Amino acid sequence: MMASSLVLSHYQARPLLEARRRGERRARSSPDLGLSQVEVELEPAGARFPSGVLVRWEHVEEVASHETACFWADAEGVLHKVQRFSEVTNRLCALMPTARAPTLLLSGIPMHRIKGVDPWEDTRLKVRTLAPLRGRVLDTATGLGYTAIQAAATAREVVTVELDPAVLEVARLNPWSRPLFETPHIRQLVGDVAELVAEFEEAGFARIIHDPPAFRLAGELYSTAFYRHLHRILRPGGRLFHYVGDPHSPSGRRVTRGVVRRLREAGFRRVLQRPRAFGVVAYR
Ligand SMILES: C[S@@+](CC[C@H](N)C(=O)[O-])C[C@H]1O[C@@H](n2cnc3c(N)ncnc32)[C@H](O)[C@@H]1O
Repeated sequence: MMASSLVLSHYQARPLLEARRRGERRARSSPDLGLSQVEVELEPAGARFPSGVLVRWEHVEEVASHETACFWADAEGVLHKVQRFSEVTNRLCALMPTARAPTLLLSGIPMHRIKGVDPWEDTRLKVRTLAPLRGRVLDTATGLGYTAIQAAATAREVVTVELDPAVLEVARLNPWSRPLFETPHIRQLVGDVAELVAEFEEAGFARIIHDPPAFRLAGELYSTAFYRHLHRILRPGGRLFHYVGDPHSPSGRRVTRGVVRRLREAGFRRVLQRPRAFGVVAYR
């Protein structure tokens, strides 16, 4: 699937319909889920974007009626949901819009925080716990690539691992994920990080960002055996950020307790809670 020059959600579609209802001939809109703004011609048949693509009004209306889906336009202006069925996990992977960066839905579960903070800010809170973020960085779970992209702003190299090719196909269509595919010092690996981690050299990373799916979906990524590998591949003095979930929820509290205990068992000398980032930082 190629990247599309036009990706829309209800955040763009509704204002276009309102402008048309007011009888306007032009409107400001975004062709890339809010990253940039362009002038759109409101023609009798539909909305024409500067790339020349015409999105027919019935399609704009369809986009406006879906709160949890993003749509990409093919060369004819026909819109398709940004989603893929995963052969690896038998789950639907889809892009869900927010007022800022979209999130990834795996079987309907958002892979970023969307209440109170948006996915881009959620990522900033995670990455900030490891500042200064220099040298080689391991990002254990690529997803939409937001952690890899933000880490790459200061890191020398970011190695990022994704289990599911369907997730990467969705990321390819997400304008906010473009730097994941265009930044030369981000190295993408496709595979199970629980297996790949055994092949990484000892003390090879200065920082590790571990942002796995929830405990109930990916228990092996919360195991002492996996944490021992993370400890082994982190250089002495290096730091790991581990996303866990809302520390104020009963399940978040319970999972955090287990994570802290097993990280210590795995050899981390200090484990500190970082409640604003919904996770913990562990020091080798
Ligand atoms: C919470 S999301 C990561 C979000 C990501 N940090 C971002 O910035 O968009 C978790 C990701 O881990 C992937 N995943 C699940 N199990 C994995 C495994 N064993 N190895 C590598 N990736 C895995 C999922 O497919 C999903 O894309």
